[in-house]
Amino acid sequence: MKILLLGSGGREHALARAMVAGTDHDLYCAPGNPGTMALGKNVELNPNDPAAVAKWASERDVDMVVIGPEAPLVAGVADAVRDAGIPVFGPNQDAAMLEGSKAFAKEIMAAAGVETARCFPCRSEQEAHAALEQMKPPYVVKNDGLAAGKGVVVTTDLEVARAHATTCVTAPGGAVVIEDYLDGPEVSLFCVTDGETVVPLAPAQDFKRALDNDEGPNTGGMGAYSPLPWLPEGFVEEVVQNVAQPVIDEMRRRGTPFAGLLYCGLAVTSRGISVIEFNARFGDPETQVVLPRLKTPLADLLYAAATGTLADFEPLQWRDEASVGVVMAAENYPATPVLGDRIDGITDAEAVEDVHVYFAGAKENADGKLETSGGRVLLVNALGADLDQARERAYEGVSKIAFRNGHYRTDIAAKAGQIQIPTA
Ligand code: AMP
Ligand code: GLY
Repeated sequence: MKILLLGSGGREHALARAMVAGTDHDLYCAPGNPGTMALGKNVELNPNDPAAVAKWASERDVDMVVIGPEAPLVAGVADAVRDAGIPVFGPNQDAAMLEGSKAFAKEIMAAAGVETARCFPCRSEQEAHAALEQMKPPYVVKNDGLAAGKGVVVTTDLEVARAHATTCVTAPGGAVVIEDYLDGPEVSLFCVTDGETVVPLAPAQDFKRALDNDEGPNTGGMGAYSPLPWLPEGFVEEVVQNVAQPVIDEMRRRGTPFAGLLYCGLAVTSRGISVIEFNARFGDPETQVVLPRLKTPLADLLYAAATGTLADFEPLQWRDEASVGVVMAAENYPATPVLGDRIDGITDAEAVEDVHVYFAGAKENADGKLETSGGRVLLVNALGADLDQARERAYEGVSKIAFRNGHYRTDIAAKAGQIQIPTA
């Protein structure tokens, strides 16, 4: 199969590896990164230009286009590729609104009877501050736009909550959502769908805060692990039945079927499973820990979703091993990361048993040496017999890699054995 993959992050490196490993697929990646370059060919093509992507894929007889990040989805790249008659993994622009607008996601959930936090969408400062008056701390204040996971403030400080609400609504076209706080641990569940059938992958947990013990600012994600030993039996089936399937059915009923990856961001609360957010794409960094556990060839699964044949797809096969991923970030991430520093030790890290490095904010400089080019530089993933072994291996890998003032959390998956679901 000839596959065009759009994107350049750690997620795309993991998608690329899971799609081509052990196959003879031809992979093209636009724009790709040093990791995807080793697995296929990086091409110069603007991933956010619908007409350019459709033209490139048509001219080269591409069998499938896989869209990694949200920006091309929101720009309508999937629509253009579908219109050109090429199978595409990723929802159309109107369906990607499930991620693009939190207010729209809430509307769909209400229509589909899906549990989520009570919320107040606000368009003015006055409205937002009035809504906050009615809430109890902790306050949850969300920018209602494409914020790449960084537009949310959760705080017990009313002044901080008010200030964030003001920042959101005073931006051009700004809007904000104030919502109830969901107690309980978070889970990311990826659901592959062709718009009708839903196939869940294995659940993972992401670490959103920059520093150990969930302190510091929110980030795109500092690490992840899978499986989650603390989840109740039947959790995945319950999410498919009560969350993913009703949402997919509602989207189809509205004439805007969602085909691609429905990322369910969930809280396991004292009152049951509740949706924090949906994304219309694979999550980063969860993808880098979930896909190494998948035995089923990923390209076949995505192709079945892209061609509407998921109902006939054989049950997924998983490895028994546990998986842990630790993000190494550039100095000053998530504020203004310092870039352009030489990265050393990748080969040594990958020499550790079952360790793989996934590149994100890394590029080759003119001398062919790796240097930092983004806030989250890379992720070190390891598989192990259990989470403890995977974690040990991942941190051994991390210890081999160096770039100036790089930082990472030391507690990824450390407390997986102690997580408790709150009781009412
Ligand atoms: P979001 O962009 O909606 O995923 O929010 C980013 C992060 O903020 C989530 O992963 C949670 O850690 C936190 N968060 C969002 N909404 C809530 C909520 N209603 N209650 C508690 N935490 C939340
Ligand atoms: N890991 C969070 C996200 O991809 O949005």
